[in-house]
Formats: sequence, structure tokens, C-alpha cells
Amino acid sequence: MRDLGLVASSCGGLDTRFTAELAKPAAARGWRLAVTLTPTAHRWLDATGGLGELAATTGLPVRHTGRLPGEPRPHPDPAVFLFAPASANSVAKLALGLADNQALTLLGDVLGAPGVTIVLAYQIQDTRVHHPAWRRHLDTLADAGVRLHRLDPRRPWSEVLDLLPPAG
Ligand SMILES: Cc1cc2nc3c(=O)[nH]c(=O)nc-3n(C[C@H](O)[C@H](O)[C@H](O)COP(=O)(O)O)c2cc1C
Repeated sequence: MRDLGLVASSCGGLDTRFTAELAKPAAARGWRLAVTLTPTAHRWLDATGGLGELAATTGLPVRHTGRLPGEPRPHPDPAVFLFAPASANSVAKLALGLADNQALTLLGDVLGAPGVTIVLAYQIQDTRVHHPAWRRHLDTLADAGVRLHRLDPRRPWSEVLDLLPPAG
């Protein structure tokens, strides 16, 4: 079974769609999920009671904080990552190399590394594309080999799973 680093940030629909349209279908395709949430995404799923259903999609712990020095690493090192949904905030921070939470630390550590595939599906307000730094952030990530996809709220998020290499 191949490992998939599944990372999510706090975008609208996270509580209703992330587990149903990404985590469960990815597991059904044969991926072993190593899930990491941004602190805000974790707070949202905690508040809506969705963490248990998400945790049931994987035998690995769902992460949202960094480990303490001396603690064992709770996740394997996947060669394939899916960052979805990715917020404008997290996209910008990843492009700039900021690593102020576990999700961004994880992705920043492997961004551009040989043999690593990262698919990033972002969901943003239409007005965000006018921000002067936005295009540069996307270009930075694309230049590093990240496969970018803009989520359409009217379409199932599971469509983005087709951008991953085969699980088996
Ligand atoms: C109900 C709600 C829905 C949101 N949806 C989005 C979204 O779809 N895309 C986005 O970029 N930010 C969205 N935001 C704003 C992010 O949650 C906010 O920028 C947050 O700081 C992002 O943190 P994170 O990237 O660490 O998860 C939303 C906020 C709320 C309260």
C-alpha cells in the first residue's frame, strides 16, 4: 500500500467535504493516508465533531502539531502529497518558505525534492487573483514542480485524485 501525505487547510467545505470527497475516496483507491491539518483546519473539524470520521480513514494519527524533540516521528515519509483544500494563506506561506505549523513544515521540507510529487488544489475567493503576490506564489510552486489545480466549489473535490499517480 502506497503512502499519501494528505494535507488540508481551513477552506469553506472542509467540515462537510474533506473526509467524504478526499480522504475516504483516496483510501478506497488504495492509499494509506498520512493526514496533516493546519491548526485552523483542525480547530474546525474538532468543533464540528468530524475528527473521528477522518481518523477512521487511516491507521496513522491525524497530525496538526509538531512533535516534541525526542518524540518518534508519527508518520512515514510519503513520496506523494496532496494538499487539498489549500487556502490562499497556506499557498502564500508555502511559496515563501514559511513553516509556522506542521502542515507547512511537512510540505516545505519536501517541496522541490527529487522523486517527490506534490499536487496542490487551492480554493480561493475570486478577488484573490488580483492580489499582486498571488500569481508569483503560484509560479514559484509550479516552478518547483508542484501540480496546481483550482478547486471549483460546484465540482466534487474527489476529481483532484485523478491528478495523483496510481496508488498501486
Ligand atoms: C467559513 C470560512 C470559509 C473560508 N473559506 C476559505 C477558502 O475557501 N479559501 C481561503 O483561502 N480561505 C478561506 N477562509 C479563510 C481561512 O480560513 C483563513 O485565511 C485562515 O487563516 C487560513 O489558515 P490556514 O491556511 O492555516 O488553514 C475561510 C474562512 C472561513 C471562516
